[in-house]
Amino acid sequence: MVDTDDKWIVERTGISQRFIANAEETTATLGADAAREALDIANISPDDLDLIIVATCTPEHHFPSTASIIQDALGARNAGAFDISAACTGFVYALSIASQAIQAATMNTVLVIGAETLSKIVNWDDRGTCVLFGDGAGAFVLQGSYDPGGVRTSVLRSDGSGRDLLKVPAGGSAIPASYDTIRDNLHCIQMNGREVFRFATRVMADACRDVVSAAGLTMEDIDVIVPHQANKRIIEAAARGLRLPIDKFIVNLDRYGNTSAASIPIALCEAVSEGRVRPNDNLVLVAFGGGLTWGASLVTWDVTPQPPLTGLRRFRRQALYRVARMRSAVRRGARAIEGTIWGSQAPDGMEPPRRDRT
Ligand code: ACO
Repeated sequence: MVDTDDKWIVERTGISQRFIANAEETTATLGADAAREALDIANISPDDLDLIIVATCTPEHHFPSTASIIQDALGARNAGAFDISAACTGFVYALSIASQAIQAATMNTVLVIGAETLSKIVNWDDRGTCVLFGDGAGAFVLQGSYDPGGVRTSVLRSDGSGRDLLKVPAGGSAIPASYDTIRDNLHCIQMNGREVFRFATRVMADACRDVVSAAGLTMEDIDVIVPHQANKRIIEAAARGLRLPIDKFIVNLDRYGNTSAASIPIALCEAVSEGRVRPNDNLVLVAFGGGLTWGASLVTWDVTPQPPLTGLRRFRRQALYRVARMRSAVRRGARAIEGTIWGSQAPDGMEPPRRDRT
């Protein structure tokens, strides 16, 4: 146990509770649960998805991508899938890419997920970080439409000179995993909290102003701001910097902690279900994080609520997911049998061309 207390955590961060994944819950399982809920609410079949993007800094593996694992879990047979790594700014980056793909008409229906299990990379002996982070996931379905609205514009920024302020040092190509890296906790989050705090209070307001002016709007046109949920004091500083009342900001970090790339979709989902976001509202989603990265998206909320899935349709959707699980198991079984039959030999026609040495 680290030397800390509830009073310090609540006063300095605003966090009162958070969700910690159990051993069976991973970034992909949390992400898939959020995705299923988003598909139900949007009343969209997994077969209709063209692309799945997962924003995460706690991916299931280096590769395959968490997005591919979720694609398989959903049985989204027509979708491409990849992950975005931009730390806590990941969801804003992912949203921007998804909306660009739709505007370019190369995609029509894109599932964007923010999912994290930060508890699995926290050093529980470091009181500067272990009290902050939580696990969770949120998801949105973006679909092309001729109606004005949706993601209108985004600003994406990075300053890699600040890469040491917030990082997981080992496990990549710079410092491959070894006994020593595990012993020294180098596969866990390291953060210079004070510096990140200073950076965050500076860029949050800047990013909001930049995205609002890029959309040709003014601050008065903004109804709701959904900030990355890192620290209540950072959000309050952004509100002061923008001269906006704090009640324009969605704040739920008291119940979730910092869930990195998942924090904005979780906060936005809650705001929508609580009726704090209404049709035609202008929203700014704004985030900062490791990299350093930061960015903001301006969204005009144009979602027409669909009737909830009931009875037969809900049963049919559940059956689809069961079929997806079975299909995946059959495919993996077939590959294993094929491997046993063929051994390590490549099937006919797959052998690399033989070159005679001269
Ligand atoms: N419990 C009790 N005391 C603590 C704790 C703790 N958990 N953590 C630090 N302290 C102590 C420090 O040791 C220090 O003691 P000292 O004065 O005797 O040296 C004192 O509290 C103040 O330390 P600060 O670091 O100055 O505390 P601060 O008020 O800055 O709060 C915090 C620390 C909460 C980490 C803050 O700096 C912060 O929120 N920073 C930004 C974090 C953030 O937003 N991260 C984004 C991550 S996003 C991503 O990409 C994953």
